Amino acid sequence: MPIKNDADRWGWISLGIHWLTVVMVLGLVVVGFLMQEMPNSPAKFNLYSMHKMFGLTVLGLTVLRLLWRLFAGTPAPVAGTPRWQAAAASLAHGALYLILLAMPVSGWLYHSASGYPPRNLSWFGLFKLPSLSDRDEGLRDAALAAHEWLFIALAVIVTVHALAALKHHYVDRDRTLARMLPLAKPAPKPQDPPGA
Ligand code: HEM
Ligand code: HEM
Repeated sequence: MPIKNDADRWGWISLGIHWLTVVMVLGLVVVGFLMQEMPNSPAKFNLYSMHKMFGLTVLGLTVLRLLWRLFAGTPAPVAGTPRWQAAAASLAHGALYLILLAMPVSGWLYHSASGYPPRNLSWFGLFKLPSLSDRDEGLRDAALAAHEWLFIALAVIVTVHALAALKHHYVDRDRTLARMLPLAKPAPKPQDPPGA
């Protein structure tokens, strides 16, 4: 598999970040709900810290992923995809990117406006991040509401997105999902015999 995307395949950098993000987002959602139900304890505090660190990792990975996308481009929709479907997919992908940026930022803003110590979040002890605001209850509540609504939007769009990928694979039987999976073969050349 190439490193860089080409006209008919995702390269391993885009593919790797896509699936790493999927795993981290799933973990963040499960932990996000579980941690709130726990009684106050060091374990609860650690889980909140982990949620924040991994959430910020998603933010960093998404920025890197978008920069890489600018440089490496994206494969064209598979041949035969109706124009409306390609447009709907682009819209959904744009919305997913926005949410992958806005969810961590709203969490970071919530942390900052709550005034919880430490004021400056440290990313796995490697470097410190600035606080996005002073303590502010109105801003804190707005940031938390945004975090919750963004989660609902994410859940709806990801469900449609995943169902669309499965439909391409099992109903249309095209390469849309296969080329986002490791070990996908290159698209057959027009001169290749069927089954090559
Ligand atoms: C893509 C990244 C993230 C995802 C998918 C995510 C997801 C969630 C979910 C599903 C919840 C539970 C429901 C809710 O209250 O909204 C939650 C809660 C929370 N998240 Fe995140 N989160 C992310 C990033 C972050 C970041 C970067 C921070 C802080 C730096 C953060 C701080 C929090 C806090 C403090 C809560 C608990 C709110 C409370 O106790 O009421 N999150 N998150
Ligand atoms: C948290 C869950 C997910 C998020 C946030 C997410 C996000 C994205 C984004 C932003 C893109 C656009 C890539 C680009 O154009 O740069 C994409 C592409 C893709 N995703 Fe996901 N995805 C998720 C889960 C899934 C799942 C569960 C599947 C499969 C069942 C899937 C299959 C695909 C496929 C096949 C593409 C490539 C589409 C194409 O070539 O046009 N994704 N995803």
